[in-house]
Amino acid sequence: MSEVSGTPSQSIREAALAIRRSHRLVVLTGAGISKESGIPTFRDALDGLWARYDPQQLATPSAFRRNPKLVWDWYHYRRGLLAQSQPNPGHYAIAELENLLPQVVVITQNIDGLHHKAGSHDVIPVHGDIQLNKCFADCQGDPTFIDITRLEWDPESGPPRCPHCGAYVRPAVVWFEEMLPHAALERAYELSATADVMLVVGTSGTVQPVASLPFLAYQSHAIVIEVNPEPTPITMVARWSLSGPSGVILPQVIAAIKAGLSDSGAADA
Ligand code: APR
Repeated sequence: MSEVSGTPSQSIREAALAIRRSHRLVVLTGAGISKESGIPTFRDALDGLWARYDPQQLATPSAFRRNPKLVWDWYHYRRGLLAQSQPNPGHYAIAELENLLPQVVVITQNIDGLHHKAGSHDVIPVHGDIQLNKCFADCQGDPTFIDITRLEWDPESGPPRCPHCGAYVRPAVVWFEEMLPHAALERAYELSATADVMLVVGTSGTVQPVASLPFLAYQSHAIVIEVNPEPTPITMVARWSLSGPSGVILPQVIAAIKAGLSDSGAADA
């Protein structure tokens, strides 16, 4: 059943009440939250010049070893696309939760940085952030971030070099064949195991290890709430599955939380 039309549905109001009562909210997001910002998916990004390349052949450490300039240039192109994109009402609604609840942490699989742009403060980008760079050898620990604005190099010759060890600098994103950053993943597990509510938005729940987090939260007695136009494997552990685009549903959830806060408390009875 779609939640999109008319006044907030009963399930939106009930879910909003559960969120309003949360002391440790975790929001888990995937590509769907950025859909309404027009973020090209992996495949959409491969138009024009890049159409003949397979992203699975570009976003790997072996591709970078083979041809660092090709991979660097592809990311340069994608960074240019993403730099123009803006958060949508779904991102802003999530950022607004911080004003309404004692603790809100966002775990995102997206590398687009839009949660930060929308104003969320505590964001764990478990797949990295496309605007950041790190040393390919992670010579000072994983990750060794490098600020390339402080480096001088000739872009025609490929990526810049790490000022510490001379290895190439690469985008700070998780590639195929790679593990997720250890500290970020540990924190994501810990938060999921101790959350009282987990709001899962716009993820297909198919890419591990992040796909296991809603199940961990559920087993740890958190209330799981899903926002997605389509059912997913997470739907079976969701107390409420709010069907529709997050840019429409989440503002309705915020409005319902605020309406509940200004009520005399009747909704809590
Ligand atoms: N609002 C909310 N959800 C939406 C919307 C929308 N407007 N539009 C689509 N969705 C849902 C889809 O129904 C789908 O369930 O978003 C989900 C997107 O699924 P995926 O494309 O598989 O994205 P995600 O779950 O983030 O994938 C995880 O896989 O490709 C890798 O590293 C990449 O981070 C990505 C990871």
